[in-house]
Amino acid sequence: MADLPSFKEWRSLAILLIFLASNFFMLFMGISWRSLSDHSASKFPADFRQDFALASFIATLSSRLNLTQAELHLTRHELVQLKQALQASQKLSNTLLTEATKCLRSSTSLNLQENLSVGQDLTYLGANLADLEAQGGELREFTRAHTLPLGWNAGTTASNMVSPIGHACGSETNHINLAKFMHYDIGGICPDDQALVQTLMVHGCEPLPRRRCFARGPPFFREPLPLPHSLWSIPPDDSILWSSYICKSFECLNGRKRRKVFDDCVDCFDLEGREKNRWTVSHNELDFSVDEVLLLKPGTIRIGLDIGGGTGTFAVRMKERNVTIVTTSLNLNGPFNNFMALRGVVPLFLTIAQRLPFFDNTLDMVHTMHVLSRWLPIRIFEFLLFDIDRILRPGGLLWLDHFFCVEDQLDAIYTPLIEKLGYQKLRWNVGAKLDRGPELKEIYLSAVLEKPLFRT
Ligand SMILES: *[C@@H]1O[C@H](CO)[C@@H](O)[C@H](O)[C@H]1NC(C)=O
Ligand SMILES: *[C@@H]1O[C@H](CO)[C@@H](O)[C@H](O)[C@H]1NC(C)=O
Ligand SMILES: *[C@@H]1O[C@H](CO)[C@@H](O)[C@H](O)[C@H]1NC(C)=O
Repeated sequence: MADLPSFKEWRSLAILLIFLASNFFMLFMGISWRSLSDHSASKFPADFRQDFALASFIATLSSRLNLTQAELHLTRHELVQLKQALQASQKLSNTLLTEATKCLRSSTSLNLQENLSVGQDLTYLGANLADLEAQGGELREFTRAHTLPLGWNAGTTASNMVSPIGHACGSETNHINLAKFMHYDIGGICPDDQALVQTLMVHGCEPLPRRRCFARGPPFFREPLPLPHSLWSIPPDDSILWSSYICKSFECLNGRKRRKVFDDCVDCFDLEGREKNRWTVSHNELDFSVDEVLLLKPGTIRIGLDIGGGTGTFAVRMKERNVTIVTTSLNLNGPFNNFMALRGVVPLFLTIAQRLPFFDNTLDMVHTMHVLSRWLPIRIFEFLLFDIDRILRPGGLLWLDHFFCVEDQLDAIYTPLIEKLGYQKLRWNVGAKLDRGPELKEIYLSAVLEKPLFRT
């Protein structure tokens, strides 16, 4: 709308045109009349050439007038259209305003009900962070804009630096924990608060602010084993700080599968068990081996990401084939990040909600097993799919490994969502998931999808 002339401008233009046209006409009629009378006064036969010139002049004039008339007509038509557009946009903005007011009201009322909704977080964010910052201290020191000592930087086109924290850090759920997190002795050893860290993160306070204290480490850390021995060795218990876990040893962690506790990845730390053979051979139509998948694009799968990769066995398998995989994981009930690092593959401590820290169109492969499944809210799943697509290079592979949902959901929800990416289905196998009973009608999908080289 901003580029179009306003209704008023159009109106003055039209008036000007009418004014010019009528004046032009009058002026011309005057001239013509005078020359005509001159002619009549002059002796007949008149100069034929002069008469011809006059006649053609009048014809030109008349056609000009015709043109002006046509233009005027057009302008009038456009004016009517503009008026209609204006009315429509007025109506739209009124509707928007009403909706916005409604939204604001409903989010405020949710706040009063102490409902953990986004609306609440957004409303409380300002107030609570301001409260926290007003208390001064480390949070303020971290988040305030710091002036660059060398002044305006041509590369970043900024003259100060702002350190980010997650938007939900100030929510009612988080702000007390955040205050706790930022309460420590500067230069000292940080509090033993790994559980607090994870609680904040899974409630949306990600990234967390940095701290000026030393992270606690395990009491008796020893150098890790050299490669390739480290890849398949369980590190000594001493190399882990166990305080935030129920288990205090790897033996305890590996015993969980016998105790039937409900945890993720109960047998992931047992490198002699199921982990040992994962992705080596294809046991059924849902298990693809890494070799089989790498052969789909020989030599050009070199770097990638495994989302929610447990103890990093996928990355280890890939490392053995000279493919570098970075693995995201939290430390839910176990030291997954430390374990991966001790094996010699790169862990990335990140929740599933965080935008992936890679640039657009860079990675050759994204693999994910179990984590991307129906437990995720569908809209979050959709955002994640688009983010995966963003970081995959053209021709890159998305390996959805044992994605699970209820049978009806696959056709109704997930297949259309996945197909929206426009990937080529190199593998697409569906099979029953029976571990929680056939009556749940759960199914697995294992697929290898190739990102198109061009998108139109
Ligand atoms: C002016 O327009 C009318 C109809 O709109 C047409 O009949 C006439 O020939 C036109 N005159 C000139 C000089 O173009
Ligand atoms: C919180 O919001 C959800 C979804 O908007 C709603 O289903 C639920 O009843 C609300 N809870 C309370 C305590 O208001
Ligand atoms: C990995 O790279 C090393 C060094 O370039 C090479 O010797 C080895 O054969 C490669 N392994 C595989 C499985 O390609």
